[in-house]
Amino acid sequence: AARDPKDLRSPICCILGHVDTGKTKILDNIRRTNVQDGEAGGITQQIGATYIPASAVETRTEELRKGRQFDLKLPGLLVIDTPGHESFSNLRSRGSGLCDIAILVIDLMHGLEQQTIESINLLKMRKTPFIIAMNKVDRLYKWQTVANSPIQDAMARQEEYVRKEFEDRYNQVALQLNEQGLNVALYWKNRDPRSFISIVPTSAITGEGIPDLLQLVVKLTQSLMAERLMFVNNLESTVLEVKQIEGLGTTIDVVLVNGMLREGDTIVVCGLGGPIVTTIRALLTPQPMREIRVKGQYVHHKELRAAMGVKIAAHNLESAVAGTQLYVVGPDDDVEDLKDAVMED
Ligand code: GTP
Ligand code: MG
Ligand code: NA
Repeated sequence: AARDPKDLRSPICCILGHVDTGKTKILDNIRRTNVQDGEAGGITQQIGATYIPASAVETRTEELRKGRQFDLKLPGLLVIDTPGHESFSNLRSRGSGLCDIAILVIDLMHGLEQQTIESINLLKMRKTPFIIAMNKVDRLYKWQTVANSPIQDAMARQEEYVRKEFEDRYNQVALQLNEQGLNVALYWKNRDPRSFISIVPTSAITGEGIPDLLQLVVKLTQSLMAERLMFVNNLESTVLEVKQIEGLGTTIDVVLVNGMLREGDTIVVCGLGGPIVTTIRALLTPQPMREIRVKGQYVHHKELRAAMGVKIAAHNLESAVAGTQLYVVGPDDDVEDLKDAVMED
């Protein structure tokens, strides 16, 4: 397939970490939504997907750039939310397997926990580049809120003893990360992002550091991963969930990692009783900046390009299996080959 260095797809960024470190809240802060409040027990139990257009990144990083232009080369970011509860290690594994880059969220007050370490090991295993959000800075004693501010500006506004508590806690967590074999640095001091993992202090509640986090993900992906992100028309797509939706029947939520999907495409997916061959009746996405796992208004599309979280309505999807690949039958494909391939996952 032809590759154009200017034609980049949106990177997929997976959010990983121990339960209740604030993964969903960070996304809520970026989206200006309240998805976390609606979760049963405040616990994420599914993989989520949210598309963040480049324009939203631009707006949110304006103050941080202080008038400088953002040389944005990406159409946007597809962010994958994962559960941190120990029982969902299969979903963490699936989420991390889909992504180009990850944000590992650590609670500044708790340091490394069981699933932090599990997540680090997943990322190491797959050699996935990642950054760390050291979240809940607003819980430092006597933290002065500077809502949605770049983190260094917010830090500069704190009393000396607040900065000291931050430093002490930061150093402790950095040491724990060193023990996991990771070299880390605060992102604004990191001169070598290939060898040192950047840490961004954040608050998902008051928004300090969120602009920094967004800017860093975009900068790292478009500078270090441009080759990997060049759009290629080879379909790569994974089924996340199978869901009944009123008015649509059974649908599948998929992550389109690479390539394109079109309304009317013949698709092959893995079913409990054997391969399912069906036709895309409707190709839908949530609104930009909205979570696919939350019911909302869907946007209809004739075709979609990666990366994107997509909802597909089609007949016979009732027994589709989450976590498996989706194939499109192209003009040169043998359906029987694809039926075999889809059942191998
Ligand atoms: P799981 O998906 O269940 O693993 O949790 P999570 O990592 O998505 O954390 P979640 O967003 O559910 O937040 C857990 C709790 O921490 C909630 O009560 C949030 O309000 C709180 N919380 C998250 N981020 C922050 C933060 O930056 N500051 C403070 N003070 N509380 C936070
Ligand atoms: Mg969550
Ligand atoms: Na939670």
